[in-house]
Amino acid sequence: MREYQENSIVQAVDRLSDSLHRLTLFAPQIAAVARPGQFVMASCGTTLDPLLRRPFSIHQSFADVALQILVKVIGRGTRYLSELRPGAELSLIGPLGRGFHATTTGSVCLIGGGIGIAPLLFLASHLPTSPECSACTVLLGSQTKADLIVLSEEFIQFGCQVHTATDDGSLGHHGYISNLLPAVLPGVEKVFTCGPHAMMTTVAGLCLEADIACEASLEAHMACGLGACLGCAIHGSGNTYKHVCKHGPVFDAREIIWNP
Ligand SMILES: Cc1cc2nc3c(=O)[nH]c(=O)nc-3n(C[C@H](O)[C@H](O)[C@H](O)COP(=O)(O)OP(=O)(O)OC[C@H]3O[C@@H](n4cnc5c(N)ncnc54)[C@H](O)[C@@H]3O)c2cc1C
Ligand code: FES
Repeated sequence: MREYQENSIVQAVDRLSDSLHRLTLFAPQIAAVARPGQFVMASCGTTLDPLLRRPFSIHQSFADVALQILVKVIGRGTRYLSELRPGAELSLIGPLGRGFHATTTGSVCLIGGGIGIAPLLFLASHLPTSPECSACTVLLGSQTKADLIVLSEEFIQFGCQVHTATDDGSLGHHGYISNLLPAVLPGVEKVFTCGPHAMMTTVAGLCLEADIACEASLEAHMACGLGACLGCAIHGSGNTYKHVCKHGPVFDAREIIWNP
């Protein structure tokens, strides 16, 4: 798998809600080889502060020339990215990690919470679309309606059936998105998930119980993103450690100890 360090050029910064920004980046080398579920390490400043690059899922990749990242502002690095303007340079390393295995032709369910929705749109755009392929149900959860309006429409454009849930009840089900999964699971061949750890723990548990394949994209603090610092270790099954940046971020749910 090829990885590049590329000085991308910001083409657009779209504000989807108060805290969500979508950056479109001209990055032909990375865009040409990126697969759903992979990520980039982005330089979040022009000085040595902050020193470390930050990891971002590849949200979309277009015609092998541009890619998008979805940024939720939580600290210095993400604020820096949200304030970039078209024409600015942004150094990226990627595509990194192992992505989703989206080859199934049976019905699938994509379930994302919060910023974990980011990699699922790229996945939805890559699902097999032949007439023999079955449905794609997408379950999207967030704190409030504003974070979901644009994104849910985009999944619909890929032919997915979308259901939503919000913590404040402003859109869809009032409560956790994982509450909607049991009704969808019968008939689903595979589930793909990304979001808060608690949500994915519930999703993985339901899938394991029903003997349905599940792939989960995990988050961890990452210093290098390249398998060198060992800072992103998590507990794997069989008394092993897995490194999210190198062995993941996408794992078969059975490979992970969800409550170590
Ligand atoms: C594989 C992967 C993919 C990711 N994809 C995306 C994405 O598509 N969009 C997006 O907005 N974010 C994504 N993230 C999270 C993103 O990398 C962090 O939000 C970012 O590094 C924060 O940088 P900052 O400088 O803004 O915040 P900092 O100033 O570094 O931190 C602010 C606060 O957030 C906490 N924090 C930082 N990173 C994390 C983390 N990974 N998990 C939990 N708490 C954290 C810090 O401890 C601190 O309290 C991803 C992370 C991983 C590992
Ligand atoms: S982030 Fe350094 S090994 Fe994973």
